[in-house]
Amino acid sequence: MLMLLLPKSGKSKRRKVKGKVNISGDYMSNTEDLVSRHIKGIAPYEPIVPPEELARRFGIPSEKIIKLNGNENLYGCSPRAKKALADYSQYHIYPDPEQRKLREALSKYIGIDMENIMVGSGSDDYIDLVLRLFVEADDEVISCPPTFGMYPFSTAVCGGRLVEINRHEDFTLDIAAIKQAINKRTKVIFLASPNNPSGNTAPREEILELLKEGKILVVDEAYQEFSSGASAIDLILRYDNLIVLRTFSKWAGLAGLRVGYALCPVRIAQYFMRIKQPYNVNVAAEVAALASLADLTYLKSTIAAIIQERGRLSDKLKKKSFLKVYPSEANFILCAVLNGKAKDIYQNLQRKGIFIRYYNNPLLKDYIRISIGKPEHTDVIITALEEMANAGGW
Ligand SMILES: Cc1ncc(COP(=O)(O)O)c(C=O)c1O
Repeated sequence: MLMLLLPKSGKSKRRKVKGKVNISGDYMSNTEDLVSRHIKGIAPYEPIVPPEELARRFGIPSEKIIKLNGNENLYGCSPRAKKALADYSQYHIYPDPEQRKLREALSKYIGIDMENIMVGSGSDDYIDLVLRLFVEADDEVISCPPTFGMYPFSTAVCGGRLVEINRHEDFTLDIAAIKQAINKRTKVIFLASPNNPSGNTAPREEILELLKEGKILVVDEAYQEFSSGASAIDLILRYDNLIVLRTFSKWAGLAGLRVGYALCPVRIAQYFMRIKQPYNVNVAAEVAALASLADLTYLKSTIAAIIQERGRLSDKLKKKSFLKVYPSEANFILCAVLNGKAKDIYQNLQRKGIFIRYYNNPLLKDYIRISIGKPEHTDVIITALEEMANAGGW
């Protein structure tokens, strides 16, 4: 490499080298100076630790780990999806960049043309793609915390400017404040409905009110299948600025395979097709998603089991005077811990191999979020809380 820095004549006069030569004589460039300025300030996304690593860290056998911190589906995926993955023989062939089979199957499932559907590597893929499509340096993106952490993360990565409009204390949207914050630079508004971590949905009138502002409105319906059924999908054909995100991660138990999709006006779908990575849905993901859509009876039964368990867990948590339990239309429940012992609860459960989410930030001070598991998981949590309450005199 250093040779290239010599003048063509080969004479000894060297151009000034900007980097340094280290002790072994290797050329070290100042790559830090080359990193995009907008990337430098980004704090790493707080990752969820996988079960094997939790088991190792806490000295618990991995089969004993109860992971209730990622809103995953503890019933797992459809048995048909597992079989389809085992039987598939074409893993050596690249996937279809136009995702024809999956978009056709989704078209039947959702009841909307395949031209309005684009699939990706989880709905996270489309959070990123929306921002790449619409946001230029210093354009503004509105997010309403407390909410899903990927909106601020991807906004920062894409060079947008994040405008946070806090939710009200009961986690409903502050529509007046959102409208007031909208200006010429606003490009995208993210709304999760049901919202993570609060579990509440955005009323339709509020979605309509925001659509009329003429900015790109992303309604993230990752948990819609666990809700009472409200959805913004039908509005896609009426509003050219609406994008609805859905995923197979939660209801279909395919979080590890990464399949999500965007429902949007045809024009936006065409842009997504142009800018997405050609193979953003791998063949395993495609095979499993297709098999899931062919096994709706089974998957609907696991959704029903989770909704029922949400009710049972919620009722039991409500009996604990030290908790304020928020109603949820998703596969998790948020609680405020009123005696300031949220961290103790989180750590105590962790020692027993039960992993929940703990929040201690200005908007969620002393909160916990518990993903809904199977009945036995509810029982273990409730017993552990009772033991703690007895020991602590709560
Ligand atoms: C609101 C919301 N949107 C999207 C996602 C990500 O979904 P996916 O696994 O499809 O990327 C999550 C995951 O927790 C979420 O809570």
